[in-house]
Amino acid sequence: MEYITLNNNIKMPLLGYGVFQANDNETYMGVKMALEIGYRLIDTAAMYHNEVAVGRAIKDSGIPRDEIFVTTKAWISDTGYDNMQYAIARSLDRLQLDYIDLLLLHQPFGDIFGAWQAMVEAVNDGRIKSIGVSNFSNGQLQNLISWHKITPAVNQIETNPFIQRESESAYMRSVGVQHEGWAPFAEGKNGIFKNLVLREIAQAHGVTIGQVILRWQIQRGIVVIPKSIRRERIAENFDIFNFSLSSDDMQNIAMLNTGQSQFFSHDDPEQIARLMSWEVEE
Ligand SMILES: NC(=O)c1ccc[n+]([C@@H]2O[C@H](COP(=O)([O-])OP(=O)(O)OC[C@H]3O[C@@H](n4cnc5c(N)ncnc54)[C@H](OP(=O)(O)O)[C@@H]3O)[C@@H](O)[C@H]2O)c1
Repeated sequence: MEYITLNNNIKMPLLGYGVFQANDNETYMGVKMALEIGYRLIDTAAMYHNEVAVGRAIKDSGIPRDEIFVTTKAWISDTGYDNMQYAIARSLDRLQLDYIDLLLLHQPFGDIFGAWQAMVEAVNDGRIKSIGVSNFSNGQLQNLISWHKITPAVNQIETNPFIQRESESAYMRSVGVQHEGWAPFAEGKNGIFKNLVLREIAQAHGVTIGQVILRWQIQRGIVVIPKSIRRERIAENFDIFNFSLSSDDMQNIAMLNTGQSQFFSHDDPEQIARLMSWEVEE
């Protein structure tokens, strides 16, 4: 495994395992398999409703706690100082952990300033090692940075060959925030696993299209967290450290960028209202 160092000197694996849209059984089995295969970063969220299964799989893996980097995220309904205090306690309880490696504000909406204050306190008393954000634009990130002493360690945003995020990546590098990419495969949308440019590169290296995409992301210094519930794919997605893409390969993949989300815009008021109506199960 390769690691990057966050702005607080904590090391984070460059490749992790995501569990969005996985039910309890899939999550438990998937996290167990991922840890057996060698993953050391698990990415969940209160809103995925599978933190309990993640916690059980980590416990049953027998791997020392300090070798595993656990990320969870607090939902919009968890923002505000008091709500975030409660949400942190709830995630620790569901994950059965004494500390969380990385807690992210899942969305840039709600009372993020009140929430951030509670998150900073949790870092100070050791319940959380690193705090960060997700789905923040450069402007939203700068707003948070300007107003607070602790700069987010990470911003987790949609990043894949169709939405490459060059300007976000450059901005994050300039302010010491680690870029983490979600939906590296665009959840299979837009024919990504049949893309001719990616296929040609994959064939030239004797690897799969999935491996090309993940390799492309880590060569850009982006932490990547593919999700699969199948053992063979979990293993395939892990096997990306023994080949490298040439600068021609990287340039050819750069041309696939459309700059458009494959899901929805975080700037669309209707979508924001929809997200704000969701609640974490109690
Ligand atoms: N912060 C956020 O707002 C946010 C949003 C979305 C996701 N995330 C995080 O990012 C993680 C990854 O994103 P994602 O789950 O949305 O999508 P993704 O990783 O882009 O794609 C997952 C899909 O690709 C398939 N797949 C996985 N590996 C494959 C391979 N090697 N070959 C062919 N198909 C493959 C999976 O199917 P099978 O499972 O059937 O193999 C699944 O349908 C999530 O699990 C979550 O942790 C965060």
